[in-house]
Amino acid sequence: MNKFSRIGFILAAAGSAVGLGNVWKFPYITGEYGGGAFVIMYLLAIIFIGLGVFIAESLMGQHAEANVSTSFVKMSKSGNPKWKYAGFMILSGLIILSFYSVVLGWILNYVISSFSTLPTETSQAGATFTNLTKDIGTQLFYHTLIAGTVVFIVLKGIKDGIEKINLILMPLLAMILFGLLIYSISLDSFSKAMSFMFIPDWSKINSSALLAALGQAFFTLSLATGVILTYSASLPKNANFIKTSISVAFIDTLVALVSGIIIFTFLFEAGAPSSAGPGLVFISLPVIFSGWGILGQIIAISFFIALVFAGITSAVSMIEPSLMFFIERFKMTRKKATIITGTTFYLFGIIALLSMSDSWGATLTFFGKNAFDWMDFITSSILMPLAAIVTCVFIGFYVDKKLLENKFTQHTSLLVFNIWYTLVKYIVPVAVTILFINKLGLI
Ligand code: PFF
Repeated sequence: MNKFSRIGFILAAAGSAVGLGNVWKFPYITGEYGGGAFVIMYLLAIIFIGLGVFIAESLMGQHAEANVSTSFVKMSKSGNPKWKYAGFMILSGLIILSFYSVVLGWILNYVISSFSTLPTETSQAGATFTNLTKDIGTQLFYHTLIAGTVVFIVLKGIKDGIEKINLILMPLLAMILFGLLIYSISLDSFSKAMSFMFIPDWSKINSSALLAALGQAFFTLSLATGVILTYSASLPKNANFIKTSISVAFIDTLVALVSGIIIFTFLFEAGAPSSAGPGLVFISLPVIFSGWGILGQIIAISFFIALVFAGITSAVSMIEPSLMFFIERFKMTRKKATIITGTTFYLFGIIALLSMSDSWGATLTFFGKNAFDWMDFITSSILMPLAAIVTCVFIGFYVDKKLLENKFTQHTSLLVFNIWYTLVKYIVPVAVTILFINKLGLI
């Protein structure tokens, strides 16, 4: 099998982790939940929950060197073939990719339109954004462009496609964010943004903030979708999977925090509210940038390009678990598997974008949710929590403890193993079960 290099793996896994979740979603939910206290909850969720599951998936992939379904069977104590059904989690990547590609399309559209004009008023910016989400032709055009790019990269394989694109885009992303950070530091509101992000106001924390932090920790680290497991199957056999996991979680967190600092500095500089929700990046920021003249235009273009880069490296990872499954299970060529999975997410993406339009909205709305929202709901509220629970229960109760201990002690102490094992066996499943029940609206 074609393997990553160690650094190639870190870049690719960080490329998957760092995405719209970091640069778009993290800042807006931090804004919605009032800043510092939420950030601390989020950091705890990353360290104690997300990182534990990340290491678990990475261990499984590196050890089994197979697709998700086969890895579960191979790693189980009894070799029970029923564990192949744990492979259901690979569906999440494809479903997420369907609407993620549409959203990336919006951003690409923002890159292009930022070259000409930026909206000067919030109402105008809001209308532009709403019109875009209802405009079938434009969205179809950009969705096709994004989907085509993803398929093109993925077709080239792990080494020549995925590793290479991450090697190019990740440093570019880092450079753009670094430039924007330096600019933020030069602005008066930088210290206000730092206080907002890092001085906790505990009165703002409630159970829904806690659960949002937990859900975000999973989404941002690309967990419970089989992506990390699948990438780790291409991690060199002797690589220290604990260190690589920590590096990826660190990079991912750093990018989220830096994005938050940049965005809040910009918002405070313009006196705009921090709690604008999903429209923060699409509505509030363009208006601020337009007030800064030509510099604002350059910043707008760089910012949206950074979002596209971050998103593309995540998008290419989402398809890989299904690809590997098709290739191994049905002995398909990579090309055939890519065409099948690529067509699937492309068509689902079209359904997602049609479901927001005036002409198709009613037809594609079921039980009060349109198809776009359903795809988000099914993945983030059902499939991913379930997959996380299955993975942890599997590791805790159905895998030989000695095998896990040996894998760990090759690289670290028994104490670290015991902490990780307790977290994954007891703490994470309980936390995620509470999240799951809450997402389903039962509590
Ligand atoms: N981690 C990505 C982000 O933060 O945008 C999103 C993601 C990638 C989710 C891959 C799921 C996945 F399998």
